[in-house]
Amino acid sequence: MQQYADNIRETGKRIAFVPTMGFLHEGHLSLIRDGLNRADIVVVSIFVNPTQFGPGEDLASYPRNLARDLILCQEAGVSVVFVPTAENLYGNHYQTYVKLDHLPNHLCGISRPLHFRGVATVVTKLFNIVKPHIAIFGQKDYQQLTVIRQMVGDLNFDVEIVGAPIVRESDGLAMSSRNTYLSPEQRVQALCLYRTLTEAQKLVKSGVKESEKIIDAAKQIIASVPESVIDYVKIFDPETLEDIEIIDKPVRMALAVKIGKTRLIDNMILSHI
Ligand code: PAJ
Repeated sequence: MQQYADNIRETGKRIAFVPTMGFLHEGHLSLIRDGLNRADIVVVSIFVNPTQFGPGEDLASYPRNLARDLILCQEAGVSVVFVPTAENLYGNHYQTYVKLDHLPNHLCGISRPLHFRGVATVVTKLFNIVKPHIAIFGQKDYQQLTVIRQMVGDLNFDVEIVGAPIVRESDGLAMSSRNTYLSPEQRVQALCLYRTLTEAQKLVKSGVKESEKIIDAAKQIIASVPESVIDYVKIFDPETLEDIEIIDKPVRMALAVKIGKTRLIDNMILSHI
């Protein structure tokens, strides 16, 4: 992969990179299309990264379908699909990790304490292997995007980071490889995430400024769903991820909710205008 990247770079072409864990959907494909518009070559990686899963999480059951993913990549115009194994990337005596001091202490990082260390580490490794000029991440994983931007600035990576909009199903559910875990009943219940965010946006537009009021209303909507368990509902500063109490500028709202055993996340900008 490194040799291939060097050869491309020598010809003066630009490489866009879309890291994924596979089981591709329209969200991933939108990032690929964005990459094709911004560069000459798009490289996609497919790797279910063990270091970003905690004990008891869904590493073993994470959905996989490499044959289908390869077809989707080919149809989309991807030049290279990089599919390393855990053995390739971590070997037996792996000991080097990238860990951020503050951003992981919020939102998903609280219930998934080593998650962003795993993400920052694998993305660093993939950047060093794929050598992209530009890398595209979805706003669906807003904290991940923030962590990667911070890491790239802090460590002087020569990679431009692009944040791409969330792609949703026609009824509003944010696309995710994990949606496949949902039973038909749970699939309906899962709509509470989007409904909560759009209701919150309405409240802010109608003039409500106190985060607490909005979060209380949000929690009520989610609690009315039988199989839901809230991990967090937060309104926060889009850069520091610190809680915001009074909404006097555009902020983000994010939530993580389990529907049965499936943990879903979503987020949206809240603004008065
Ligand atoms: P994965 O969950 O496969 O997501 C790969 C990329 O697709 C991420 O940048 C994610 O934000 C984006 N994405 C997923 N669903 C999306 C949607 N509905 N709309 C827009 N973008 C969406 O995120 C990871 O993999 C991993 O943590 C990874 C970065 C590959 C590191 O292992």
